[in-house]
Amino acid sequence: MKKVVIIDFGSQYTMLIARRIRELGVFSEIVGPTWPEDTPNADRVEEVGAIVLSGGPMSVLAPSAPRVSPKVFEFDIPILGICYGHQMLAHLLGGQVTKAQRAEYGWTPLEVIEPDDLFFGLPTHFRVWMSHGDEVQTPPPGFTILARTPSTPVAAMRAQDRPIVGVQFHPEVVHTQFGKTILANFLFRIANLQPTWRMSDFLTERIQEIQSLAQKGMFLVALSGGVDSSVLTQLLAKAAPDRLVAVFVDTGLLKWDEPDRIRRYFGHLPHLIMVDAKDRFFQALQGVTDPEEKRKVIGALFAEIFEEEARKWQGQIRYLAQGTLYPDVIESGQGLGPAATIKTHHNVGGLPEDLSLELYEPFRYLFKDEVRQLGRHMGLPEDLIQRHPFPGPGFAVRVIGEVTPADVALLQKVDRILEEEIKRAGLYTRIWQAFPVLLPIRSVGVTGDERSYGRVVVIRAVTSVDGMTADWFAFPDFVLKKISSRITGEIREINRVVYDITSKPPGTIEWE
Ligand code: XMP
Repeated sequence: MKKVVIIDFGSQYTMLIARRIRELGVFSEIVGPTWPEDTPNADRVEEVGAIVLSGGPMSVLAPSAPRVSPKVFEFDIPILGICYGHQMLAHLLGGQVTKAQRAEYGWTPLEVIEPDDLFFGLPTHFRVWMSHGDEVQTPPPGFTILARTPSTPVAAMRAQDRPIVGVQFHPEVVHTQFGKTILANFLFRIANLQPTWRMSDFLTERIQEIQSLAQKGMFLVALSGGVDSSVLTQLLAKAAPDRLVAVFVDTGLLKWDEPDRIRRYFGHLPHLIMVDAKDRFFQALQGVTDPEEKRKVIGALFAEIFEEEARKWQGQIRYLAQGTLYPDVIESGQGLGPAATIKTHHNVGGLPEDLSLELYEPFRYLFKDEVRQLGRHMGLPEDLIQRHPFPGPGFAVRVIGEVTPADVALLQKVDRILEEEIKRAGLYTRIWQAFPVLLPIRSVGVTGDERSYGRVVVIRAVTSVDGMTADWFAFPDFVLKKISSRITGEIREINRVVYDITSKPPGTIEWE
């Protein structure tokens, strides 16, 4: 089965191209501008059914502008250039690109002037999304102009004698009308690909990859219980259960039932290491009140414990598997291939160099919802797949001030009530994250006839797409009432519950 290679020139939309193509049933992978040179998968060019040249922030006229390797034109693989990619095709193949008199940005009416497979089934006039400062004035020799806009004379072009197409607009963004159809037309009518890729294919390929890597060494994974590390563990366990060491560190700062959940879902693994490190974490956190200091202490201790466990395997472990997702991959196109050398900025925190593990990140081209889909394919239960994100430092950043076992236990009780009530109200999947925060102050209250002087807990629940911005969640009144009365009724120490109505920005999701 053939895949699409997307050569990334730095557009903010590159990941959207990858995603749209996968939604259309063709596997796509993002590579760096030097592809196919200097990349481990260059020798697998025969697997490539089409190449997309992405947009990018530079001008093709600048001497330092990134250029696609001339080899790309020798393969006779269908090519689609988008925005910068479109201009680069024109520039490299003998057309003329100039600085536009005025930049075109936003919704723009497009007129199709030449019927072509690229616009098959579409009207001759529709709106597209533009974002560019240069424009193609004249297409390269042998190219036909397919469409224009009021200010862009070559908004789409196609070579007559080979499958090379360029579009100035962005078919991958939802603002372009019929954008997905245009991409589908390129894939299925011009590049003659088949929409046969399914998540199950990704699964089969990764299983084969893992089994082949596993012959050279074992895999180590930090299993936190979150969606990404759970799906990753399941994948490795499906492929090579005996070659996987899954380490779960119980920091004591996790949700009330986390160790039980881990045992329930992964207890069958031959090498599931459950490290009870609660005392070590609470000891290390004694007297620490600054949020960043808490994170440092927790990160360092985590790395230390992880390292201790890794060393016990005396050189048998070769790979550190991580559930890094596409949005986490900043340096797109780098470190490609099944196992790139370890970086210092991995989730686990600085592991010492002498462990010299190779990093294995099978999800680096996937989005969160795709990882969830993969988890479903492998039969992980829905309540695990839909879990809210949970921060690495856990409740340590939700107990404001010094973290004590007693306060974390209190917070775990509140968290349990909150989660139960949100699920009972059918709201769990509408909320990005919901959690309690314990404040280091006391409040006066009255219980029966008696005055109380108790703890204050904040409830935070937000909606978000990616955690970068967030809105507080508008609970129905009756849910808030139930949450509040259960907390104060069931937890004697707490006599006041408040709801956080701050969006991000200016607030952050967490309080610390
Ligand atoms: P903020 O509070 O910055 O949170 O709006 C954004 C997202 O990141 C999570 N978060 C963390 N995750 N280690 C993590 O693994 C951390 O130190 C950390 N701090 C915040 C937070 O829960 C939210 O999903």
